[in-house]
This record gives sequence, structure tokens and C-alpha cells, in this order.
Amino acid sequence: MGYEVKNAQLRKWVDEVTALCTPDNIHWCDGSQEEYDSLCSQLVQSGTFRKLNNDKRPNSYLAWSDPIDVARVEDRTFICSLSKQDAGPTNNWMHPKEMKEKLGDLFKGCMKGRTMYVIPFSMGPLGSPIAKIGVEISDSPYVAVNMKIMTRMGKQVVDVLGDGEFVPCLHSVGAPLAPGQKDVAWPCNKEKYIVHFPEERAIWSFGSGYGGNALLGKKCLALRIASKQGKDEGWLAEHMLILGVQSPTGEKTYVGAAFPSACGKTNFAMLIPPKPLQDKGWKVTTLGDDIAWIKPGPDGQVYAINPEYGYFGVAPGTNTKTNPNAMASCAANTIFTNVALTEDGDVWWEGMTDEPPAKLTDWQGNAWTPDCGRPAAHPNSRFTAPASQCPCVDPDWENPKGVPMSAFIFGGRRKDTVPLVYQAFNWNFGVYLASTLGSETTAAAVGATGNVRRDPFAMLPFCGYHMADYFGHWLQFGRTVPKPPRIFSVNWFRKDANGKFIWPGYGDNMRVLKWIVERVQGKAAAVESPLGWMPRYEDMDWDGLDMTREKFNDLMSVDRDVWQNELVAHEELFVKLFDRLPKEFLHMRELITSSLWRSPEHWEQAAGATANEGWND
Ligand code: GTP
Ligand code: SPV
Ligand code: MN
Repeated sequence: MGYEVKNAQLRKWVDEVTALCTPDNIHWCDGSQEEYDSLCSQLVQSGTFRKLNNDKRPNSYLAWSDPIDVARVEDRTFICSLSKQDAGPTNNWMHPKEMKEKLGDLFKGCMKGRTMYVIPFSMGPLGSPIAKIGVEISDSPYVAVNMKIMTRMGKQVVDVLGDGEFVPCLHSVGAPLAPGQKDVAWPCNKEKYIVHFPEERAIWSFGSGYGGNALLGKKCLALRIASKQGKDEGWLAEHMLILGVQSPTGEKTYVGAAFPSACGKTNFAMLIPPKPLQDKGWKVTTLGDDIAWIKPGPDGQVYAINPEYGYFGVAPGTNTKTNPNAMASCAANTIFTNVALTEDGDVWWEGMTDEPPAKLTDWQGNAWTPDCGRPAAHPNSRFTAPASQCPCVDPDWENPKGVPMSAFIFGGRRKDTVPLVYQAFNWNFGVYLASTLGSETTAAAVGATGNVRRDPFAMLPFCGYHMADYFGHWLQFGRTVPKPPRIFSVNWFRKDANGKFIWPGYGDNMRVLKWIVERVQGKAAAVESPLGWMPRYEDMDWDGLDMTREKFNDLMSVDRDVWQNELVAHEELFVKLFDRLPKEFLHMRELITSSLWRSPEHWEQAAGATANEGWND
């Protein structure tokens, strides 16, 4: 096995899996650069990878997946708790015993003709008390090399593990090879199962080689299993970016933000403030772009770490204007999946440049021209890049203690209804706004896109137990933590009558972030709106941006008729979760309804609201 493995449980499990899956070879990953390079060459040989032009994109590769394997498969994702009630109505469920039988049949002999990779990984800094160790067994070398970027992976993890506990994560693409059978570039199976056993803390994934379906440290361990552990142990595992804001006084404020998949976490995490705000001394640093583990600290504050080691970022829409830091992060040592190939051996995706190249090879390997009517890159195409390559990575991004959090922000994609920004009246109202978060669906999951669904805390696809118990856990967390963060709602995606985004977004999101940070610091004014505290036009910094009072009112308005529908949608969610819904929610919904009824039908800042200067509870 190349190195010594003391952990008897691990050796036993590897033996059991070997007997079940009958691979031709076993490879224990040591996590070295030599191993990475050799696996990548092997992937080039087998046709899964294409080496990109080394002058343009050093040490980088491109993979094109099977078109039936391009995103997370939510309808094939299961939480197999012992009781169905514990999984709750928002998760698929099957009895663990029944599921194990089904999986036993599927995994039997599923690695024939392939090499089985044993991939020990740590979510969180190696050896840190908050880190969790997992071991993924996979028959996909693509998974092994991606795990090297996304996690701390290899022999050192086994050394740190010693005799300790690990989360077993079994993965197969589900495509055994008969003797002499030629492999395809992207093996997978049309039948897919992404299965979690929350009590046993185990993961089984079959049939997909893509992203969160296959890189099991990410959504499966760090969110679904960890959310359940957090519930049991008094902490939170969240679908949140973490960023640091340095204000002109030099003060550092850390913020977490939960947006649903493909709704702008990577962009917000790496934000570059507009020039005038930079000149005043505002700066943003990145700790993470997808997942946060959040724990109460001894000083009454809450601390967060990013358990990941890389970014699995959405490619389309990313460019040197919208996100220069992401572009720099994937400039080298990166694996691209499902983007287009340029004639000179580099990558391209929609939105990367104003002018598309005249000729490309699209993500399905076909010749592409700008007028062909097909996207060149898949809408959920991604880059896997080391976090250490991000130019604005925070100095504390690997600090095992984490960073103290001052604010949590929640936001979805809403073309109407939800204002640009508001602050919840208090923790409970904040938990309410996060629980009722709605967002238009995106290409990050298989299925129709663009319809609004409730995505509580941006965790709908990632919560490993009953969603209403999760709400209760958040309420309880706020009761026990002496200095809980302030909670805010944002919406970058409001559109005008012509269907165009009203808010410029990207770097200009700093203007909203600045108001949030100043609220936390007790420096910014706000007015009371039906939903919470809101900035007036004059409470925000418009330096260098053409923002009129009228446009601001369009972004911030709260319309009673529109909100009636929104409140009905909240109620639909509550009815679905009725058996375990915190009773507070019904009262908060009533309070919001009544405040909507005693405010103007169409609430606008300009309607004479008065500022509560220095409101700072
Ligand atoms: P996952 O990795 O899927 O969890 O998602 P993410 O939230 O990290 O997604 P990401 O940041 O990569 O979202 C990318 C999409 O959001 C692209 O379509 C961007 O164009 C869009 N986007 C990001 N920020 C903004 C913004 O401020 N305004 C607008 N209008 N779109 C944005
Ligand atoms: C998401 O869909 O929220 C992602 C991408 O971050 S994946 O890891 O594929 O789930
Ligand atoms: Mn995500």
C-alpha cells in the first residue's frame, strides 16, 4: 500500500469494499505532486483529460463529461436516516436496510477492470480539532486528482488519523469493464444514487463522476453529514462563503453569506470594491466560497472555518471584470470540466470575453461558431482551482481557530419581490428570513431552471435531516450564543420591466456590504420597513456609480400585493414542514403580515420614512 496504515477499521473497510467491488488494482493515494502528475498523464492517455497549452494555462487540464452527467442529481439524493420523519419531507428517504441491499447489488463487481483509489482527506486544516477526516474509495482517477485540489489529501491524513474515526465515503462511476473492453472518456451510469446514512455517518455514491455527486468531501460530508453532526453537537455546517472586510479604520469584520448554487457566492467572496471605495480604504479578503463550519467560541462570539482547500467554481459569467480574483485563481494548476476548447489549446466559456472566439470546440467535442445557436460551455461547467492561488486569500484562511463572525447574509435570485438589502429585526426574524429564502433554480442541479422555489438557508439540497429541526437548531443556536452575528437579506437579481438587472452587482455589491459592516459596527443609519431595517438612499455610498433615488426605490420597494403571494409561499413551506415547524414562525409570519398592512401599499424609502440614526441595539 505504499505507506503504513495503522487504522484497523480503515484496513478492514478497504478489504470489505475490495471484496464487494472487485477492482483489478488498489491504489492508496499519497497526495504527492508526483502522484498527481502521473494520474493526470494517465487521464490524458485514457482520453478523459486534454492537457491545455502550457504557455497559456500551465499545468492545467480539460475534461468533458458524458452529457447525462453534468450536475448534481437532487431526485437521486437520499438521506437514509433510521426513521423517515428524521429525514423530513424535503429529502428523499429509504430505510437504511433496504437501501443497503439495493446498493449492495449495484456495487457488487462494479469496479471490475478498474483501479480502486483509496483517498484519505481532511476537511479543515490537517490536525485541527475542528477538522473531520474522511476516506473516499473511488474507481475514478478524475475524482482522485480533484480531491487533491479540493481537500488536504494523502498520506499525512492517514498519519494524523492514527486510530481515530473517519467518515467512509464509497464512490463508483458504476461502469465495470469486461476483459479487453475499451473504456470511454467519461464512464458513468444512467442509474445514480447519492446516499447518506446520517446516524452511521457513511456515504455511498453510485453512477456519477461529476462534482458534488462524486467529490464526496464537499456536499456529502461537509454539508449533509456535517449538518447532522452539528445538530447533535451544537454547531452549524452551512452553504456559505466566508469573507473578511477591512474598513478604513483598519478594523476587520468577517461575514458569512449563503446563496443557493450558482447564485454568486464565489463572486461575492472574492469581491473587489469599486475604485472610489478602495481609495477610502475598503478591502475584501476571501476565506471560502462554498462551505462554512461555524462554532461558538469561548468568548461568546461564533467562529467559522472553511473546510475546503480549493474552489469548484462556476465558469460561465466569470471574467476579468466580474471576478478577476477567480480568473487569477484558475490561471494555472487547474482542472476545467465542460468548458469549451480554443484553437490554441486554452479554455473559453460564455461571458469570459465580450467577443466570443470565431471558432471553438464545444464541451461535447463538436465544432462551434458564435452563430451556431448552442452554448460552447455547459451552463454548469466548472473549474477546480487551489484556494491558495486566490490573490485576495485571507491570511487567516487556514487558521484552525477560524475567524469571528459578525454578520450572516442570505440571498437568492429573485427578479421581483425581495429588496436589495435589509437587516432582520433580531436573530429570530433573521432565522425566519433565511428559512423562507426563495430562489430561481439554476443549472447547478439537473432539471428545469428559472422557477422560484423555497431554498431555506440555501440548504434545501444539502440538509442531512428534517428541515424544520434545522430551523429549530438555528433558533436554539441564537439562544445559547451570547454574541450572535446580525442577519441580513440581499437580492442582486431584481429586474426592470425590460427584464434587465437593475442592480449592477459584482464589485458594486461592496456598497451593500459596506452598509452591512457599518450596521454591525453601529455606524450606519437605517429606517424601519415592514420587513426589517433598511438603508435610505443617503445611507449608502454611491461614489463613482450613477444611482438615482428613483432607481434605488425600484430596488428597495416592498409591494403589498406581491408580498401577499410571498407570504402564501411561506405558508406552503410551513404546511409541508408542519409536524416539526418552530411555533415562533407562525407568529413572525403574522407580525410581517400586520406590518405590511399598516405600511403604504407600495412601501418606498421616499414615502417619508425617518431614519433611526445610530440605532444600534
Ligand atoms: P455553487 O458553487 O454552485 O454553490 O455556487 P456559487 O454561489 O459559488 O456560484 P457563483 O458565484 O459561481 O455564481 C455564478 C453565477 O452568478 C454566474 O451566472 C454569475 O454571472 C452570477 N452572479 C454572480 N454575482 C452576481 C451579481 O452580483 N449580479 C448578477 N446579476 N449576477 C451575479
Ligand atoms: C453546488 O451545486 O452548490 C456546488 C457545486 O457547489 S457541486 O459541488 O457540484 O454540488
Ligand atoms: Mn455550492
